[in-house]
Amino acid sequence: MKVFVYSARSYDKPALQLAAGGHALQFTEQRLKRDTAQLAAGCEAIVIFTSDDASAPVLDILHSLGVRYILLRSAGYDHVDLKRAAALSIRVANVPEYSPNSVAEQAVAMLMAVNRKLIQGQRLMQLQDFRIDSLQGFDIHGKTVGIIGTGKIGMAFARIMLGFGAKVIAYDLQVNPEAISAGIKYESLEALLRQSDVVSLHCPLTAATRHLMSETQFSWMKPGAILVNTCRGAVINTVDLIKALDSRQLGAACLDVYEFEKGLFFEDHSGDIIHDANFVRLRSFKNVLITAHQGFLTTDAIKEIAETTINNLDCWQNGVPCKNELTVKPGIETDALERKPRIVGSI
Ligand SMILES: NC(=O)c1ccc[n+]([C@@H]2O[C@H](COP(=O)([O-])OP(=O)(O)OC[C@H]3O[C@@H](n4cnc5c(N)ncnc54)[C@H](O)[C@@H]3O)[C@@H](O)[C@H]2O)c1
Repeated sequence: MKVFVYSARSYDKPALQLAAGGHALQFTEQRLKRDTAQLAAGCEAIVIFTSDDASAPVLDILHSLGVRYILLRSAGYDHVDLKRAAALSIRVANVPEYSPNSVAEQAVAMLMAVNRKLIQGQRLMQLQDFRIDSLQGFDIHGKTVGIIGTGKIGMAFARIMLGFGAKVIAYDLQVNPEAISAGIKYESLEALLRQSDVVSLHCPLTAATRHLMSETQFSWMKPGAILVNTCRGAVINTVDLIKALDSRQLGAACLDVYEFEKGLFFEDHSGDIIHDANFVRLRSFKNVLITAHQGFLTTDAIKEIAETTINNLDCWQNGVPCKNELTVKPGIETDALERKPRIVGSI
């Protein structure tokens, strides 16, 4: 089948090519959006990533071009309007489980870097300033870690925290029996936030989780607690996050994702002026560590993503049920809205 791959990067092109089998892949580094949808003309399938825009108007264009299959190189599918895809008979599949450990380990790495002030330590080292007065952290051992979303990634993170000797508590709409057998107690969101020294977000972005962490929830948090977000940026209300940091209610934040990352992350904007005052403000806090959505970026995960993506396509081509096909679930709305990047002009 002819397949058009959007947002292709140096790290995923070789893996996809290796997995491609009989499919003819064409690549572009460009993001899928209204004005790049046309590039897929002549291809029955497209492969997209989280930075791509598969909102209703874009799906309409793709359908008119003959695209019938959308393969997501991601677990999250909040960027796809599944209702519109179903109405257009476009089939969509994701990679639900490539390596939950890749993201969980990124969350742990960020938590430890922020808590133990590793980045500041490295900067002082480079300045040959060997004082350690500003580098104090706290033991994770014996502290309470709250996990929001006890699915695959949340449980991988929980297991690591249990290994550190932390008390792990959780909030989720569904109880995971694996969490219960690990001795994890479920709490209400408020009770979790009031008790936790560290809070880590691992839920999908849906209409229900959009801005799940807003002013009220920040006010419930234990003063000085650390918030880790490796799920989706819009689960946090950015303006309220900045207020919580300004008032020192929040001790620190580790962000692998950002509410307005589309058109920003995964791209080189070193020559651009970024007109997103909140993003610039967030970067100015010493106690905020931001990475540009790299949680999934391990060799193991990339290989798994490529193989599952092509396998999903093979299933459809061979008329075999595709276990990763996404359908609209009642009560769960996705959040596929067109969002304009906030970058204007060049330096
Ligand atoms: N940073 C990255 O590179 C990266 C990579 C992969 C996935 N992710 C994100 O991580 C998320 C979680 O991935 P996963 O594989 O663990 O998914 P999962 O489906 O295994 O687990 C998600 C959990 O969230 C829970 N949940 C759903 N709605 C909720 C709500 N309103 N309140 C509380 N909990 C709720 C679900 O019940 C489930 O237990 C993905 O949706 C994706 O957005 C990020």
